[in-house]
Amino acid sequence: MEYRQLHRFLIGIFAAVLSLALFWGANLMIQAKETPKRITLIYTNDTLGTLQPCGCGGRNTGGLPRRATYIQKVLSENPNAIIVESGDLAFAVNPAQPTAQIEAVADAFKYMNYTAVGVGPIDIRMGEHFYKVLKQKGIPVINIDTVETEGAIPYMIKEISGVRVGIAAFGAVPPDRRNDLELLKKRYQAFSDARKQSDILILLDQGNIATDEWLQENRNRLGSPDIIVGGCNRIGLNEPKWVGQTMIVPTSTMGEYVGRVDIVIDNDKKKMTYSRTLIDPVIEPNPDVDKIVQDYVKSQSVQTQTQTQASTNQALPYYPYQTCVGCHPAAYEHWKTTRHSKALSTLLQKEKAIPDCLPCHSDMYRLTKRITVSADQTGGVECMACHANVLPHGAEYKKKGDTEAIKAACLECHTKERSANFEPTTAYERIRHASK
Ligand code: HEC
Ligand code: HEC
Ligand code: HEC
Ligand code: HEC
Repeated sequence: MEYRQLHRFLIGIFAAVLSLALFWGANLMIQAKETPKRITLIYTNDTLGTLQPCGCGGRNTGGLPRRATYIQKVLSENPNAIIVESGDLAFAVNPAQPTAQIEAVADAFKYMNYTAVGVGPIDIRMGEHFYKVLKQKGIPVINIDTVETEGAIPYMIKEISGVRVGIAAFGAVPPDRRNDLELLKKRYQAFSDARKQSDILILLDQGNIATDEWLQENRNRLGSPDIIVGGCNRIGLNEPKWVGQTMIVPTSTMGEYVGRVDIVIDNDKKKMTYSRTLIDPVIEPNPDVDKIVQDYVKSQSVQTQTQTQASTNQALPYYPYQTCVGCHPAAYEHWKTTRHSKALSTLLQKEKAIPDCLPCHSDMYRLTKRITVSADQTGGVECMACHANVLPHGAEYKKKGDTEAIKAACLECHTKERSANFEPTTAYERIRHASK
């Protein structure tokens, strides 16, 4: 080989080695510089058909139009989001019957781009109707059961900028099937499959299966979820609770809060930061979702009739307050001074004479499924709400003075959600008639 040839050859080799090294180094640099991946989990639970805040007990938080505004704001900060509700989307007065309410909730969820939902104890009372509506509206339901649940999927894996986010669910099960071993086996299998295929696993736990003990016992066999979104049983938490590597997040009811977990994946490290936002009147309602709500309310409005009559063909007959006035004028006059006598008027003023609200605001509706309205709109929580146990009776009746039934009646309507500040003793003193 001539000297010049050798020289060229060596330069060639040198150049090859150099470019290889450069390429390698650049490659290393790309790897080292890989930016952390950010994924945001937005979660809700137990919306319970609260399309709008009801105003009961001064409650003015929640509502899907405001929720939509908030979610859109989060999405504008980070479009890499997963949006879930752990379950109990609707609250039908009689959930066994299909209702339009679940359709309205599903329409709003679709608009908000929910990724998936789980199944709560009230959802399952709706039976196949629940699955049918959500399928029709295109919202994936995550649930696995031994009974046919048409359209539900055992788990979901969603790849977001290279991160595999899994969603698994332990949905609610009717009490008589809590010990169904076949069902448990299927659920654990789905959970462990989802765990194996995901970098981040979110578990929707309306079935209350993933307790602290469960997490500890099954950690090695099935793996642990990264985040658990439960149902009402986690309301008591103010901060997330950690069990090993699992973050159990606080929940709320009737859409009071929307929860959020910001997940940063930096090479192999995961960092999760929790926060939540009160859905209060400061948040402007989204007009599109507001329209879904208004259309629903319009479609549900119960026609008012003008004639009052006691109905006789009901399981529980309805005795309007007018039938008591003649013999109990003092009790009537006192009752007129309480808000109970205006409970129907409240709904009429708000244009909310709909089956979602009427059962607690109108005895007539509860017992006859219709309402009539007098000129001054008196009526609503009437004598029967507290005195059904002594009816009917006439002039020959001898007072028994048994007050237990009266006291038991209050909590049917004065629930924690609707009447948070209800204090039985002072409330009782307020509504009893001092006619003795
Ligand atoms: C589970 C029973 C229940 C249902 C269902 C219910 N309410 Fe109420 N509501 C109550 C009770 C009880 C109060 C009184 C709360 C208190 O003052 O502690 C109340 C109070 C209210 C008030 C406040 C009245 C005032 O002027 O202080 C408004 C408004 C109201 N409800 C509207 C609604 C609407 C609208 C719906 C349907 C979306 C609804 N409620 C459904 C039980 C109910
Ligand atoms: C929210 C519940 C509630 C409603 C509604 C209600 N009452 Fe009463 N009523 C009570 C309570 C409480 C007492 C007192 C019981 C006691 O402690 O002795 C009472 C007592 C009575 C008594 C017995 C009074 C006495 O002097 O012994 C009569 C009669 C009566 N109510 C009639 C009516 C009539 C008529 C209406 C409708 C216009 C009505 N109540 C609506 C709760 C209610
Ligand atoms: C024809 C008259 C008459 C009518 C109508 C009537 N009551 Fe009475 N009510 C009585 C008499 C009489 C008593 C017993 C009073 C006594 O012993 O001091 C009584 C007692 C009661 C008591 C006390 C019960 C107890 O055992 O402590 C309640 C509550 C009551 N009435 C509610 C009603 C309600 C509600 C209506 C309307 C649906 C109604 N009454 C209609 C005559 C009537
Ligand atoms: C059928 C449902 C229902 C039952 C049963 C019921 N309430 Fe109420 N109560 C309401 C509603 C609805 C309101 C609010 C009405 C409104 O402002 O429109 C209310 C309001 C009240 C208020 C505020 C009244 C005022 O004038 O300031 C008191 C106090 C109260 N209830 C006590 C009781 C007690 C005590 C009982 C049981 C003895 C009882 N309620 C049973 C539905 C009910």
